[in-house]
Amino acid sequence: MSRGSTRFGTVVLTGATSGIGREAALRIAPRCERLIVQGPEAPASVGALLAALNAVARGTVEYLSADFSRLDDVVALAASVRTLVGGSRVDLLVNNAGVPGAPTRVLTRDGFERTLQVNALAPALLTRLLMPSLAEGGRIVNVGSSAHRVEHFDWDDLALERDYTPVTAYARSKLTMVAWSRLLAGEIAPGGPTVVALCPGLNDTPLSSAMMGRIGGPATEGAARVLHAAEADVPSGSYLEGGRVVAPSADALEPRNQERLVETFWTTLRPYASSHRRSITWSTSP
Ligand SMILES: NC(=O)c1ccc[n+]([C@@H]2O[C@H](COP(=O)([O-])OP(=O)(O)OC[C@H]3O[C@@H](n4cnc5c(N)ncnc54)[C@H](OP(=O)(O)O)[C@@H]3O)[C@@H](O)[C@H]2O)c1
Repeated sequence: MSRGSTRFGTVVLTGATSGIGREAALRIAPRCERLIVQGPEAPASVGALLAALNAVARGTVEYLSADFSRLDDVVALAASVRTLVGGSRVDLLVNNAGVPGAPTRVLTRDGFERTLQVNALAPALLTRLLMPSLAEGGRIVNVGSSAHRVEHFDWDDLALERDYTPVTAYARSKLTMVAWSRLLAGEIAPGGPTVVALCPGLNDTPLSSAMMGRIGGPATEGAARVLHAAEADVPSGSYLEGGRVVAPSADALEPRNQERLVETFWTTLRPYASSHRRSITWSTSP
């Protein structure tokens, strides 16, 4: 099911400073012309990462700093990517950056529950802003989690004012991402980029450690699953667990939830998209 030794062209990968994203970047660098990686740290703090990537890279490696708990940072990140690629196109966008649920509920300065913002709203905004730069025949890989199965949407309490726990926050953010991934695939016209979401399995990383203690395999295993999702010959909108296409939870597929998600994203993200780039259009509106 995999195209094997794909050459990726230009790649944008978020959350490359640690864990699965770092390992995925190390595997993609030798196989692409240009790798643009993101992390929340200042560029001065990522010298070791860049040295490691440049040691194996086939083409150029660039680092952009952005904190997804600030949606203005996401807008600036998208603008920087567009500037870097100029008239060329992004062939692969990997939305990997993520946070565990914080011990107690945190609201961002944008007014959203932080886990939801970093894990779901920010990648949706970044993807939307980069859509004009994505290559036809390119791919968007969204790193979700099988944890999405343990939660349900509560549209009346998106900010988790009533029911906050770290696990609830994380699982709902991943449910949102997995549902959005399917929605996005349906919005993109045939010939446009394909969209694949995946669970990378249980990997021993700072994120998993914060929620469950030291557990899981090495991050290289999750990175291999990300690479597989980037190359797999599967229909757009697919969700992969254990490297296989499976149905996401019923909540993620429920049409009414998909409609509510469109409404929510439209209301939440349009101001950030339209205030900075008037030509951005949302192909689905409430
Ligand atoms: N590990 C697992 O078992 C597992 C299972 C299922 C799904 N996943 C998913 O896999 C993805 C990668 O997670 P991981 O386990 O590799 O965790 P990780 O090692 O903690 O890496 C997360 C990445 O996201 C970055 N990040 C954190 N906060 C951010 C923010 N506010 N803005 C922008 N970037 C931020 C991190 O930067 P820093 O280097 O500064 O922390 C890091 O680069 C996540 O989407 C996660 O939900 C992981």
